[in-house]
Amino acid sequence: MLRLAPLALLAAAAAPAAAQQAPAPVTATSPDRSLVLTVTTDNDARPTWSLSRKGKLLIAPSKLGFLMADRVGLQRGFRIEGSETASADSRWEQPWGERRFVRDQHNELLVRFRQHESWGGHAMNVRFRLFDDGIGFRYELPEQEGLKTAKIADEITEFDIAAEGTAWWIAGGEWNRYEQVYQQTPIDAVSTAHTPITMRLADGTHLAFHEAALVDYAGMWLKRVEGRKFRATLAPSSQGPRVVRDLPFATPWRTIRISDDAAGLVESDLELNLNEPNKLGDVSWVKPMKYIGIWWGMIRGPWSWAEGPNHGATTERTKQYIDFAAKHGFGGVLVEGWNKGWNSNWFGHGDAYSFTEAYPDFDLKAVTDYARKKGVTLIGHHETGGNIAVYEAQLDDAMKLYGQLGVRAVKTGYVADAGGIIAPGATPGSKAMEWHDGQRQVQHHQKVVETAAKYKVAVNPHEPVKDTGLRRTWPNWVAREGARGMEYNAWGAFANNPDHEPTLVYTRMLSGPMDYTPGVFSLKGAEDVPMTSTLAKQLGLYLAIYSPIQMAADFIENLEAHPRELAFVKQVPTDWAESHLIAGAVGDYAIFARKDRKSADWYVGGVNDGTERTLTLSFDFLDPGKTYTATIWKDGDGATYLTDARRNIAYDTIKVKKGDTYKLWLAPGGGAAMRVTPGR
Ligand code: NOJ
Ligand code: CA
Repeated sequence: MLRLAPLALLAAAAAPAAAQQAPAPVTATSPDRSLVLTVTTDNDARPTWSLSRKGKLLIAPSKLGFLMADRVGLQRGFRIEGSETASADSRWEQPWGERRFVRDQHNELLVRFRQHESWGGHAMNVRFRLFDDGIGFRYELPEQEGLKTAKIADEITEFDIAAEGTAWWIAGGEWNRYEQVYQQTPIDAVSTAHTPITMRLADGTHLAFHEAALVDYAGMWLKRVEGRKFRATLAPSSQGPRVVRDLPFATPWRTIRISDDAAGLVESDLELNLNEPNKLGDVSWVKPMKYIGIWWGMIRGPWSWAEGPNHGATTERTKQYIDFAAKHGFGGVLVEGWNKGWNSNWFGHGDAYSFTEAYPDFDLKAVTDYARKKGVTLIGHHETGGNIAVYEAQLDDAMKLYGQLGVRAVKTGYVADAGGIIAPGATPGSKAMEWHDGQRQVQHHQKVVETAAKYKVAVNPHEPVKDTGLRRTWPNWVAREGARGMEYNAWGAFANNPDHEPTLVYTRMLSGPMDYTPGVFSLKGAEDVPMTSTLAKQLGLYLAIYSPIQMAADFIENLEAHPRELAFVKQVPTDWAESHLIAGAVGDYAIFARKDRKSADWYVGGVNDGTERTLTLSFDFLDPGKTYTATIWKDGDGATYLTDARRNIAYDTIKVKKGDTYKLWLAPGGGAAMRVTPGR
């Protein structure tokens, strides 16, 4: 069926009507017209797309299509059969997040490609959405004769970046999932990267490539083919084809955030806008909160997850932590190692886990009753060792138990090397090895989140699949790990460099909330190895790394020993009306101003890399005509992450109003935090 009318209209603007044989390009623009998309077919009748910004080529003609496992690929012999356009401008509200309201303003172009019979005659649609701050597109394979089940060997989606620049990235397809040190290289020195991958072009344009709505599909890596041309490649599957899907279906959106500056990149809601609205209805049971936990004691020692003389999760200690949480207003207490299964070799195996049976020195009913009385929730824990066969068999019972006992959130874990997820095989008792970001594991996470929602439990996976904005659709998916977190600072030689967190802000954090677990005031890892952070940076992390659940990770004795720092953690919200990056550069530093959702207070702060710097912050974000009091925690004189001076912290209280500026010195490895309250 030809849909000539809309195509003719669009093509008329872009190409002469006489071009009968030549492919007619289809174009679309962003609402502000800064982005211009062109979709066409090349000399070999391969679908291509390209993008320019402010009149300059940004993505040179790049191919679209698939390699298939059971037939000739969907890559040649296509013609554009028709196209449709649409526009939208709406606002939606987040139940929790970095900002309460999100604007979704875009122009849409749906291009219908049809392959010549000699190449299979397949129909392949590509839907593009253009926003002022970026673009997303996805494939939609409609119901059709001759293709009932797509067995996708790989994608051939290309991104040919037209200009030189720098990239910040971690490698895809390596043994370590996402917990890598970020690399900063020229774009043409990237190998295969996970997304988000962030780039700054020579003219200052900032780009971040990622995906949105990764559902029942394999995660996308970007493989550099030559020069600055990248191709999507999908995480492998034990099945052979990387994705198997019945038609009709749509792929995740392939996205690019595009901005003149770092703030535009960080503040974009592109991927959230490309996800489906909330499917859970009333989610008032999903509570943003701060929490403490029986955790640091295992990560840095001397406690153990497993039963034994140093067992961390005892009834007595859990009650002590609940008391501390209640006294200081923490909403939750994470308890790891309460359930059976840790005594064996759990890393990458997970055969012995029970998710419902406790070790004898832990009384789950007693501690949850105690927590309830004190107005605190336990945060449950499901470490799987990557064995989703064992976990899925118990999943419903495990979530039901937490739900019944009033455990409102669970941290899950998949500690196994990449490719080491153990899924049930095709025959009883057999195993199928999968990737943390392969289609099977994507399906698994979906199942966990939906099962948890049934029992009103929120989920925070560690060793997860990357976030792609699915918190919009399932708001009980509150956070994930998915990068090197604080735990690395417990492990001496593996400690994060001071530029790690100011890199995360512009890379990992573009995908969604991270359970980084800040708040180690002792600044010491195992065997007292000093951390690469000043004390003030531990507070700045609460503003730099967003999550609706934020831990204060240290032992409670260490938290209590720092009353002024603890006072900040007690105050800082985890749910915001607005968030703005007010100063920052990729990989160097990041200072945010965030407005509390429940009051007129603002919180300002963030993190620095290893180079000291002085910033002039502007209080432009404040309401005009009001005076505010700013309470400040900042690096003290001579502070540096390199020596004991990492503990030097200074406090200040000043009056500020809109238009005022403030000179802030950030130590090497430093940070800062302030609370800005209306009134004197
Ligand atoms: C690794 C996680 O990142 C950490 O937080 C957790 O304590 C251990 N796995 C054990 O589950
Ligand atoms: Ca981890």
